[in-house]
Amino acid sequence: MADPDSGGPAAAAGLQTTSSDATKPPVTELNLILLGPPGAGKGTQAERLTQDFGLPYIATGDILRKAVADGTELGRRAKQYMDAGELVPDDVIIGVILEALDTEEAKDGFLLDGYPRTVPQAEALDEALKKVGRQLTAVLLLDVPDEEVERRLSGRRVSRSGRVYHIEFDPPKHPGRCDIDGSPLIQRDDDKPETIRKRLKVYHEQTEPLIDYYEERGLLRRFDGTRSPTEVHDHIRATVATLRLEDEL
Ligand code: AP5
Repeated sequence: MADPDSGGPAAAAGLQTTSSDATKPPVTELNLILLGPPGAGKGTQAERLTQDFGLPYIATGDILRKAVADGTELGRRAKQYMDAGELVPDDVIIGVILEALDTEEAKDGFLLDGYPRTVPQAEALDEALKKVGRQLTAVLLLDVPDEEVERRLSGRRVSRSGRVYHIEFDPPKHPGRCDIDGSPLIQRDDDKPETIRKRLKVYHEQTEPLIDYYEERGLLRRFDGTRSPTEVHDHIRATVATLRLEDEL
């Protein structure tokens, strides 16, 4: 169905609505955001949640790292910010995410990881969804203190396919090799100690205001991210399943 309004970010994004009344959101879709500091376990939980709920997973960090690896214009613009632990400018990333939502796959629900990271990014998403009669279901906040973030990110290793490990908390079966594709595990460029500290500073200054933003809108759900990956997953899964049930009633 066509966008009821012409113009605006939603039209640019081509987001689809399943309702003929743009003011009445459809109730069965899950539109979820994972929020939290770097290293909170967003990617770790996303892998499990996408399997639980069959949602398309849209991770801005993955999109940007692929663009860098592919040497695209986006990658060229993003690399300097990512390497420095800073945010890619809003005008670059908002277009990227609206394009990622402009797909057949994402029209019935999505799991966003790494977006939004600033209030203007959140406002752009709200506007785009509203234009097509959709809305967010919940924002899942993983609470993890800075010291734990530093321990996690300094021990993180990733495979070529993006599978995430930790040398202490979630080691591969064979040291330095991915369990799934056997590729060598590497450390991300932005997981160096100075860059980790910079990313945390940026998170507290620019992304943390989103906690109040979504709390005020009744969308925030908090989870203790210091628990084991399985405990965190069980808690989130139960919460999301309840939200969906409430929606369907
Ligand atoms: P991005 O890739 O999104 O990085 P991030 O948000 O900093 O998050 P991470 O991927 O580092 O951590 P995570 O929470 O997914 O943790 P993980 O599951 O891996 O962004 C990278 C860069 O891109 C940004 O710095 C910015 O430059 C740019 N960018 C991206 N989006 C942008 C946007 N919207 N606007 C502007 N710029 C943007 O877990 C971490 C480690 O801990 C792993 O080793 C894991 O095994 C372990 N672990 C996970 N859970 C647990 C647990 N419960 N207990 C013990 N260990 C655990």
